[in-house]
Amino acid sequence: MQYRKFGKLDWKVSALGFGCMRLPVIGEDQSKIDEPLAIKMIRYAIDNGVNYLDSAYMYHNGNSERVLSKALKDGYREKVKIATKLPAMIIQKAEDFDRILNDQIEKLNIGKIDFYLLHGLQKTSWTKVRDLGVLKWAEKQMADGKIGRLGFSFHDKLPVFKEIIDSYDNWVLSQVQYNYMDINNQAGRKGVEYAASKGLAVVVMEPLRGGKLSKEPPPPVAKVWETAHRKLTPAEWAFQWVWNQPEISVALSGMSLMEQVVQNIKTAGRSGPNTLSEQDLKLIERARKAYQGLTPIPCTDCKYCQPCPHGVDIPRCFQAYNDATIYDDLTVGRRMYNAPFFKPENHADKCEECGECLEKCPQHIAIPDWLKKVDMAFKMDAPPRG
Ligand SMILES: NC(=O)c1ccc[n+]([C@@H]2O[C@H](COP(=O)([O-])OP(=O)(O)OC[C@H]3O[C@@H](n4cnc5c(N)ncnc54)[C@H](OP(=O)(O)O)[C@@H]3O)[C@@H](O)[C@H]2O)c1
Repeated sequence: MQYRKFGKLDWKVSALGFGCMRLPVIGEDQSKIDEPLAIKMIRYAIDNGVNYLDSAYMYHNGNSERVLSKALKDGYREKVKIATKLPAMIIQKAEDFDRILNDQIEKLNIGKIDFYLLHGLQKTSWTKVRDLGVLKWAEKQMADGKIGRLGFSFHDKLPVFKEIIDSYDNWVLSQVQYNYMDINNQAGRKGVEYAASKGLAVVVMEPLRGGKLSKEPPPPVAKVWETAHRKLTPAEWAFQWVWNQPEISVALSGMSLMEQVVQNIKTAGRSGPNTLSEQDLKLIERARKAYQGLTPIPCTDCKYCQPCPHGVDIPRCFQAYNDATIYDDLTVGRRMYNAPFFKPENHADKCEECGECLEKCPQHIAIPDWLKKVDMAFKMDAPPRG
C-alpha cells in the first residue's frame, strides 16, 4: 500500500479507502448486506494496509454503519480511521444533530468518530445546517471528544464549494466526486486545487464514476484502450489518473466483490503522485473524449433522488437508457428495463412531474424530462437519442 499526505494532519492515509456504500447485498434489497462477505472484505482491506473507511448514516438504509462496527471488532478498530456523515439533507431542526450523532456512535459502537462529515452539501442543505448552528454544535462535539475532526462531502457547483471552504477555518477534509470524466463537474479540478491550497485533505469519491468507468467499455472507448502502450484495466487507468494528482489524499472505492478489493489494493500499491507519463495522460484524455460522445444522462447512480413519491426507480431507468445509448443497442436497455426485478410500477411512465427529485439530484439532471425520453425509447422501436 502507498500512503499519502492528509491535508494539515500529521498522519498518512492509504491511497485507497474503503467506501461502505456499495457493500455486497443479498438479492436486490440494498438494506440486506451480505454480512459475512462484507466483513471479510473490509478486514482483508485493513490487513493489506487500508486505513480509511467511509460510511454514512443513510448508506444501505442505515445498515452500513452497523456492519462496519462488526468488521471493526477483534482489534481492527485500532488500525483505521473512521469517517461517517451527518445527513444534512434530512436535518430539520437543531435537535436532530445530537439525535443522529448519538445513534451513529451507538451503531458504530465506537467512542469517537475520527472524521465527521456534513453529507452531500449543496447550497440549500449547507445554508440550512449552517443557520441551525451546525458548526458551533460540531465544535462542542469535538471538545467533548465525540468526533475527531470535521469535514464535508459535496455535490454542487464550484462557487458553492469555495463558499463552504471559506466559511470555516477548521475544516480538515473535503470529499468530492472526481474522476477523469468529472474534471469540470461539481467541484472539479479547480475545486480540488482550491481545497488543497487551503490545507484541506481531498478525499475522492466515485473515482470509477460509480463503476461506469470500469465496466466493459463501449467500442469507441475500447478502441482507445487497445492502442495503449502499456496494458492496464479501465479501472486501473481511472484510479491511477486520480492518484497521479498530488492534491489528492485518498480515493474511496465502494467495492462490492472480494476480487475488486484485491485488485484495487494491488493497483494502489503501484500508485503515486506524478507517476503517469505524458503518453498515459494523453491516452486517458482520448478515452474521456470517446465517452463524452456517448453518454447522454450524467447520472452516477448515487440514489439521492430515491425514493420517488410515485415509485419511479430513476437511477435504473437512466442506467437502462444510458447503456442502450452507449452500446448503441436498444435491446441492452430494454432487457434491463423489462427484467423481472424491475417492476412496471417503477418504470419511467409513472413520473407525475412533481419535481421532488430535481432538488435532490447532485448532478442537477432534468429528471422528469429525461424520464419522458426513457419512456419513449423503451416504448417505441427506435434507438434512443440524447
Ligand atoms: N458523500 C457522498 O455524497 C457520496 C456519494 C457517493 C459516494 N460516496 C462514498 O464514496 C465511496 C466511493 O464512491 P463509489 O462507491 O461510487 O466508488 P467507485 O469506485 O467509483 O465505484 C464503485 C463501483 O465500481 C466498481 N468497481 C470497483 N472496483 C472495481 C474493479 N477493480 N474492477 C471493476 N469494477 C470495479 C464496482 O461496480 P460493480 O458493483 O458494478 O461491479 C463498484 O460498485 C462510496 O462507497 C461512498 O463511501 C459518498
